Amino acid sequence: MKRIFSGVQPTGNLHLGNYLGAIRNWVRLQDDFDDCLFCVVDMHAITVWQDPDHLRANTLETASAMMAAGVDASRNVIFNQSQVAGHAELAWIFNCVARLGWLERMTQFKEKAGKDKERASVGLYAYPNLMAADILLYKGTHVPVGEDQKQHLELARDIAAKFNHDYGQETFPIVEPMILGTGTRIMSLKNGASKMSKSDPSDLSRINMTDDAGSIIRKIRKAVTDPDGLPSEEVGLEGRPEAANLVGIFAALAGRDIADVLSQFGGQGFGTFKQVLGELAVDKLSPIQDEMRRLMADQTYVGQVLTDGAVQAGAIAGPVIEEVKDRVGFFRS
Ligand code: AMP
Ligand code: TRP
Repeated sequence: MKRIFSGVQPTGNLHLGNYLGAIRNWVRLQDDFDDCLFCVVDMHAITVWQDPDHLRANTLETASAMMAAGVDASRNVIFNQSQVAGHAELAWIFNCVARLGWLERMTQFKEKAGKDKERASVGLYAYPNLMAADILLYKGTHVPVGEDQKQHLELARDIAAKFNHDYGQETFPIVEPMILGTGTRIMSLKNGASKMSKSDPSDLSRINMTDDAGSIIRKIRKAVTDPDGLPSEEVGLEGRPEAANLVGIFAALAGRDIADVLSQFGGQGFGTFKQVLGELAVDKLSPIQDEMRRLMADQTYVGQVLTDGAVQAGAIAGPVIEEVKDRVGFFRS
């Protein structure tokens, strides 16, 4: 059986990378898979400090963005992680399955912990084990994410394989990453070498899902580019990370391929291209933003979706957690 699971952290500043790398693909996949769970991973969020009131508000905002983008709450399970206890239970068991050496290799921990890793939370270190638990609690098989999550999904495969080896073959499926489309790694508008990120201190580095039309156009106009114009299709974007990023965003938003975009704009300066890209971004994002505002004004509804979703998720997770506890040898009467 095929089952999709994916998640997004409610850490504020949901951006174009989250949309193009993840959420937009969820919208497409819901037509091909009848069994999809989409989770607002609030337990992952607190691996770095979150103000409690902001966390609650961001959880509703993230769910609103998912639905506004077209994730249908009546066909999929939309919920927040902390409302289903099985995530924490399975994560603990996985803490005892995963090896320190495996976690030591995780590049995201190194990036997020920075120089002073002694001060990082233990949760930040164990983060990938909780992510494996998220997916495997539902025996999820397919996981649509952006490029940056590839290493975490490899770890989830290793955890599933080791659990199956130690406690019983075929308890868990080996998950398939789905890294789809041209928008799997959107870079910062200020630096073509770092990815667009919620936590970048410069707001000009990203297009937030809540940015108004004026800000979107201004941010694209101010995006860093090199002094050369856009290359022709033959020359290509090799060694031109900032140009490649803008062309990639254009292609992803327009549903065209890179070569096609270059055949139209190659040889021109960035001025016109940025103008057209800004308008395209506004055009594609504004209907989502209108719907997001409408949903955010109805917090009772969005909260109810999350709570109903948690009940549905809990019903799927229950038998899995029982099976796992039996396999591990936990007594229960
Ligand atoms: P996060 O914001 O870390 O919770 O990420 C939520 C989803 O968005 C994950 O599937 C990420 O891989 C994806 N994502 C985050 N940043 C980017 C980016 N700059 N480009 C493409 N996908 C991204
Ligand atoms: N770690 C993911 C991110 O930051 C979010 C996430 C948590 C996730 N659990 C997941 C994604 C399970 C896919 C499946 O982007």
